Amino acid sequence: MEQASLFGARDTAAGHVAVAFVPDFAGWQAATRLQWQAGLAPDALWWHPDREAAAPPAAGGSGGPRVPKRFVALARAAACYRGADRWALLYRLLWRLTHGERHLLARAGDADVAQVNRYASAVRRDVHKMKAFVRFRTVAESGFDEPRYVAWFEPEHEIVEYAAGFFQRRFANMRWSILTPDRCVHWEGDGTVWFSPGTDKTAAPDGDVTENAWRVYYRSIFNPARVKVRAMMSEMPAKYWKNLPEAASIPGLIAGADRAVAAMEATHREHDTLHCGPTPASPEATLTRRAEAAPRGSLEQLALRAARCRSCDLCGPATQTVFGEGPSPARIMLVGEQPGDAEDVTGRPFVGPAGRLLDAALMDAGLDRRALYLTNAVKHFKFTPRGRTRLHAKPDYDEVRACRPWLEAEIKRVAPEIVVALGATAAGSLLERRLSIARDRGRRIDWHGRCVILTVHPAFVLRSRARRDDEYRRLVADLKAVAAA
Ligand code: URA
Repeated sequence: MEQASLFGARDTAAGHVAVAFVPDFAGWQAATRLQWQAGLAPDALWWHPDREAAAPPAAGGSGGPRVPKRFVALARAAACYRGADRWALLYRLLWRLTHGERHLLARAGDADVAQVNRYASAVRRDVHKMKAFVRFRTVAESGFDEPRYVAWFEPEHEIVEYAAGFFQRRFANMRWSILTPDRCVHWEGDGTVWFSPGTDKTAAPDGDVTENAWRVYYRSIFNPARVKVRAMMSEMPAKYWKNLPEAASIPGLIAGADRAVAAMEATHREHDTLHCGPTPASPEATLTRRAEAAPRGSLEQLALRAARCRSCDLCGPATQTVFGEGPSPARIMLVGEQPGDAEDVTGRPFVGPAGRLLDAALMDAGLDRRALYLTNAVKHFKFTPRGRTRLHAKPDYDEVRACRPWLEAEIKRVAPEIVVALGATAAGSLLERRLSIARDRGRRIDWHGRCVILTVHPAFVLRSRARRDDEYRRLVADLKAVAAA
């Protein structure tokens, strides 16, 4: 049979009309409108997907087909199903809905209806997996201070365009690309989205520091008491594992679940004391009481529990708890204010613009970030949404106080000799009194056998436009003094 590739050309041998169209929902819609207006019944059509197909001429006449809204939503999802028969199925449904079967979709037992529901559900499941399992890695891009976030994902269905909106909203401020074998989507952080043809995995970056963040994060949210291997495998099927940095931890976590549960039970009684109680009689008394009550167990157990902390309202809008990271014990601990946008997304402290400035300052001061423990006074990102932007908002007294038990517990485990407070919020949380940067910067404050040193927050240096170089040099000098202390 000769295949006509022209729009609406008649195939004389079989008596079909071959409809060449761009195989996505919009392409099918445009082609469908013309065929429907021409009164061509489903059996008369042969759907011929072609990425290069010319746009069909604008449909003449007044109305196109009028279908229930629900059909449009169903068809939009089912159009992403990877199956050659989807286009004919959708046209058949549309034809029937507009030719005497207006309530067709209510008949779940109808073969066409059952099929479109099945297709749409499979696509939505796939989108759900994509939202859950896309893992961005950072790639430096010339001409930009900020890296681009690039992810590789292998969807089961052709969902890239369909799912793109979620990522645009979720990661509105970042520049990112999601590469897949079918299509790639790119977002420029300024409202520009564009698509390119599919690629292979070699185009995606291999692994970077965010990999480790995912491992730590997964370990921190893994609840050994709730391990249901079968349910876990269905939620996180093994086929996704190869692209998930945290997957390498799964067998070990499952194997160690029993031991972890026993340890969790041992610390169970202490748990409540970590959620803030009544206002303390005196900071000293509270510190001692909380220090004594601080949980035993590892930093990982602590991170695991902090991941479920609901002690203040910040946990709601934030993506995740950003716990501290670094070796334990560590001679030096750095305490910031709270995670920012990038930290909230990646789950790691100091990975955004302030973090990069801090990295440079540490290096210039002769300090190796890998030898330090970095954390924040507040473990959730507090922000005010402004359009597509999440503006940093200062945590208030209660929020700092609600998080303090986590900071104390980290200090107890990491046992630093020197704690560097980056900014007044960190200092206030540590010492439970107000310090002034102008007055107290660089002073060595004796605090329960440890030395607290106050300096500015790296974000302050970023904000000091005109005096940025001076402020940067002062920060480096403070950190050099820490290194020498
Ligand atoms: N600012 C902070 O105080 N902490 C971070 O982790 C990032 C920015």
